[in-house]
Amino acid sequence: MDRRNFIRLAGGGVIAAAAAAPIAGCSISSAYPAAAVEAWNGPGAETDPRKRAVAYAITAPNPHNLQPWLVDLREPNVITLYTDRERVLPHTDPYGRQILIGHGAFLELLVMALAGQGLAAHVALWPQGELGASLKDWDRRPIARITLQPGGTRDPLFAHVLNRHTPKSDFDTTRPVSADTLRALKAGMARDGIQAAGTVDAAALGPLRELCWQSAKVELLTPRTVMESVHLTRVGPGEILEHRDGISLNSPFIRAVDAVGMFDRKNPPAEGSEAYKTMMTRFEGHSRTAMGFVWLTGRNRRADQVNAGRAYVRLQLQATALGVGMHPMSQALQEFAEMAPHYERAHQLMLGRPAPKTADDETVQMFCRLGYTAVPAPATPRRPLRAFVV
Ligand SMILES: Cc1cc2nc3c(=O)[nH]c(=O)nc-3n(C[C@H](O)[C@H](O)[C@H](O)COP(=O)(O)O)c2cc1C
Repeated sequence: MDRRNFIRLAGGGVIAAAAAAPIAGCSISSAYPAAAVEAWNGPGAETDPRKRAVAYAITAPNPHNLQPWLVDLREPNVITLYTDRERVLPHTDPYGRQILIGHGAFLELLVMALAGQGLAAHVALWPQGELGASLKDWDRRPIARITLQPGGTRDPLFAHVLNRHTPKSDFDTTRPVSADTLRALKAGMARDGIQAAGTVDAAALGPLRELCWQSAKVELLTPRTVMESVHLTRVGPGEILEHRDGISLNSPFIRAVDAVGMFDRKNPPAEGSEAYKTMMTRFEGHSRTAMGFVWLTGRNRRADQVNAGRAYVRLQLQATALGVGMHPMSQALQEFAEMAPHYERAHQLMLGRPAPKTADDETVQMFCRLGYTAVPAPATPRRPLRAFVV
């Protein structure tokens, strides 16, 4: 059978790809539609320096690509950053810790992009007080007020912002990550109470790979947590263009499965189904092909979470500069009841101490696998700049 022309389905059926393409409403390419990824061309002809900076900042890494940022530009020389409270993950991130890491990453890119235009940014976190301890208590208080004045020093990592992409595919197990690469990656990444550590030691990889896979199974087999991802899954060019966020899937195979109604969006993937097998194989592959790990730790106050995000994006930009792939595997760090044993194990493995009980305890804030991919990771969609500006 010509693999270019046929797509194999669950139960041994096949769909002719030529027939699947019109069903899915477009060409058979798995590339994301150009408009969905236009953010990666930079701010283009935009002349307002604050909007230009925001255009870079929206490329920040963030959980489930929810892009939960809103900026208020009504006050001259000020950018006020808010969370879009519709864009959070109540089941896998009930305290909003990961969402705030995504805000930290946004802030870091914003500050870099302003400096690149000769503007120094003073960042004041929580100008009206911290957000509540749980997502459900969050109100309209801003995360940060950024005041601008002439100055700023160009950051060498800024050159990599538009090339930074998270590799969400298996790594090449014939290419180890060297200790020198890990050292270069971590160099200079400690900031404001956040430390970077990691390993590429073959003996240490086994337990950490196992942690990834066992914790992934908990997220995938717990109905309310897997459904959080299913609801954010965008299949095919039409949905990807409509939303420009979430988990974008555009391979001919998944589009064909969706087009014939075999991708259920209302229920967790049923055991044995093609969607179930694809999901499990994907996470097991990611876990087992980790060729190294890097993690960020610090205390767990709201400001630490934001600072972890600032450190995280710097680390990933450094990984981009070094040409090594860095991919968060956050399942073991998720704070829902069923995950508690893995949360504990993650802290034992990485910090040699129990999971935190208070905001002053050392906490693993980010946990990422390292390795090299066969093909470069693609740029993921972003919503248009205007969607972020109040
Ligand atoms: C706090 C945080 C947690 C993340 N956890 C995961 C994860 O568990 N699995 C994953 O594939 N990506 C994870 N990511 C990466 C995001 O999925 C990614 O940044 C987003 O999809 C946008 O893609 P990009 O980084 O290539 O621009 C995480 C990112 C952040 C900031």
